[in-house]
Amino acid sequence: MRIERLSRAHDRSTFRCGRAELDEWFRTAAMEAQQRNRSARTTVLVDGHGAVVGFYSLATHAVAYDASPRELVKGVPRYDAVPAVRLARLAIHEDHQGQGLGERLLATAVRDVLAAAEHVGIVLMTVDALDEAAATFSERFGFMRLEATRTRPALAARVKDLQLTFSSSREG
Ligand SMILES: CC(C)(COP(=O)(O)OP(=O)(O)OC[C@H]1O[C@@H](n2cnc3c(N)ncnc32)[C@H](O)[C@@H]1OP(=O)(O)O)[C@@H](O)C(=O)NCCC(=O)NCCS
Repeated sequence: MRIERLSRAHDRSTFRCGRAELDEWFRTAAMEAQQRNRSARTTVLVDGHGAVVGFYSLATHAVAYDASPRELVKGVPRYDAVPAVRLARLAIHEDHQGQGLGERLLATAVRDVLAAAEHVGIVLMTVDALDEAAATFSERFGFMRLEATRTRPALAARVKDLQLTFSSSREG
């Protein structure tokens, strides 16, 4: 399996992860978000035949200081908004779930954020979780719940903590 930036060469039509809204976004909006309006960048995991096994997308974000748990913003200047990158979507194809690939893609996304943080100030990485199960998945890797402002759970972790958490062999 290999990791690639999403391109038109990837067949998006057959991807299914069990969540119709994620499948639909990947099929119909991911390329546009990346190429036309640049609102999100998508990375795919492909198998030996080039079929998409999973994907994630990242976008910039700003978290209200007052909505952040104290431990996440300790020592951070009290600006209105704390600079962040959001893991807006993460999905593994139904046929490949439960094999450690979600964890692998999350580790790769964290690596992308750490690389960006070498050039741009980023305090937090946030996760837009679809539901409680997705939130629980993220919590396993140290993401903490933010004050709920919408119906979906939102979580965040400090970039410097993620560096430690993911410094082992998870990515690839
Ligand atoms: C959530 C998802 C990305 C996880 O990917 P995956 O490849 O199935 O997960 P992994 O095999 O890498 O699991 C890593 C660990 O997380 C755990 N885990 C997986 N899914 C979980 C869930 N929904 N809730 C809690 N823990 C979960 C696994 O048990 C595993 O733990 P272990 O190492 O102790 O066995 C995948 O199931 C998926 O695409 N689901 C549908 C879309 C979705 O909900 N996306 C999340 C949006 S943020």
